[in-house]
Amino acid sequence: MALSYQYISQRDLQVLWHPCTQMRDHEDYTPIAIQRGAGVWLEDYDGRRYLDAISSWWVNLFGHANPRINAAITGQLGKLEHVILAGFTHEPIVTLSERLVALAPPGLARCFYASDGSSAVEIALKMSFHFWRNRGEARTRFISLSNSYHGETLGALSVGDVALYKETYEPLLLRAITVPSPDCYQREPGESCADYSTRLFAVMDATLARHAHETCAVIVEPLVQCAGGMRMYDPVYLKLLRAACTKYDVHLIADEIAVGFGRTGTMFACEQAGITPDFLLLGKGLTGGYLPLSVCLTTDDVYQAFYAEYAAQKAFLHSHSYTGNPLACAAANATLDIFRDDDVLNHNRQLAAHMANATAHFSDHAHVAEVRQRGMILAIEMVQNKPTRSPYPWQERRGLAVYRHGLANEALLRPLGDVVYFMPPYVITETEIEQLAKVAWEGIDRATR
Ligand SMILES: Cc1ncc(COP(=O)(O)O)c(C=O)c1O
Repeated sequence: MALSYQYISQRDLQVLWHPCTQMRDHEDYTPIAIQRGAGVWLEDYDGRRYLDAISSWWVNLFGHANPRINAAITGQLGKLEHVILAGFTHEPIVTLSERLVALAPPGLARCFYASDGSSAVEIALKMSFHFWRNRGEARTRFISLSNSYHGETLGALSVGDVALYKETYEPLLLRAITVPSPDCYQREPGESCADYSTRLFAVMDATLARHAHETCAVIVEPLVQCAGGMRMYDPVYLKLLRAACTKYDVHLIADEIAVGFGRTGTMFACEQAGITPDFLLLGKGLTGGYLPLSVCLTTDDVYQAFYAEYAAQKAFLHSHSYTGNPLACAAANATLDIFRDDDVLNHNRQLAAHMANATAHFSDHAHVAEVRQRGMILAIEMVQNKPTRSPYPWQERRGLAVYRHGLANEALLRPLGDVVYFMPPYVITETEIEQLAKVAWEGIDRATR
């Protein structure tokens, strides 16, 4: 039987359980069966195309089926597909680690690898806790921001604050301390984002003053809270936070799993504040969006706290089977080659300016409260009432209507609630940006009628 869209989707529904999905929704529409991708485009088995405006869950940087990344993985495949990383090593991972240490903010000197982003978050939480324990201190708390997201495993959920994902599992979670986010959408009329972020920092400072003795680390998503609706804040908050973490002797974990690798305009978001965290977490775009690989970079200070005679029982005995997979490392090295050779960040500045121009008129829409942007992330906040900014009842699923409109018009837009956003691969063209803006405008206009 020929591989038709319908045939695959129907078989899918007999045996799969999809991530982040109420499966009953698929009684109304089947999963879209994709047969190939090229650049920013995905193509289904019926030949329909979709412009991937969300980089397939924020992972893809240089397009689907990128010839340079394909070649790197194919080349590696002929040599070594995988090897245990405990007691063994390989050239692609050594090269990748040298390059990441060179690229990351100064002072980050060691790379500990995992697979998905959530597992890198778990590593940072455990490593920070264990650091203090090796130092003879029994600290157990973590501080994080309201509206933050760090993944779905239990430790990561504990430091996250998106109720939709977290609430059900609350009885199973660590007791994190949540401090109000400096999210500039909440600022007073006429107040600058920098002033608002600075003002909000007072709560973080007071929390640190009260809880530092029992706190392992503060964990934040630098500059953009992505899953929390692409909410953005000013770099000044990170600057103040770095200084306070140093002052109170608490670790700072920068979760750049979503915002790393150029999304915010700089290679890493922390650069815009000129800070070095104690832990920098990277994933998603690390392999150009090809294979699961994540990494927790940390300082020599942290590393040395674990370095001892085996009998001292200070080692970090954490592992995942596919840690440091050579194919994934080859994809990551090819991704870094593209950054090195193609002046990517400069080119992205032009693309970001074009996204801003193409969506400038959205702020005039009667149901758009804000259009915000940081680098290659642009978000449009749909609301029921523009003057009061009151949202639509979530049960109305207005964002879903935009999603459906997008799919019918060659665009994969996947709003977060009522926030429509673009976070495209960096190979998008200006014409494609205009196309996206057109579909998004029509989708928003229809969904808010
Ligand atoms: C900031 C942040 N941290 C962690 C994660 C978890 O990564 P993964 O889905 O690869 O487990 C995500 C995923 O969206 C994220 O946005």
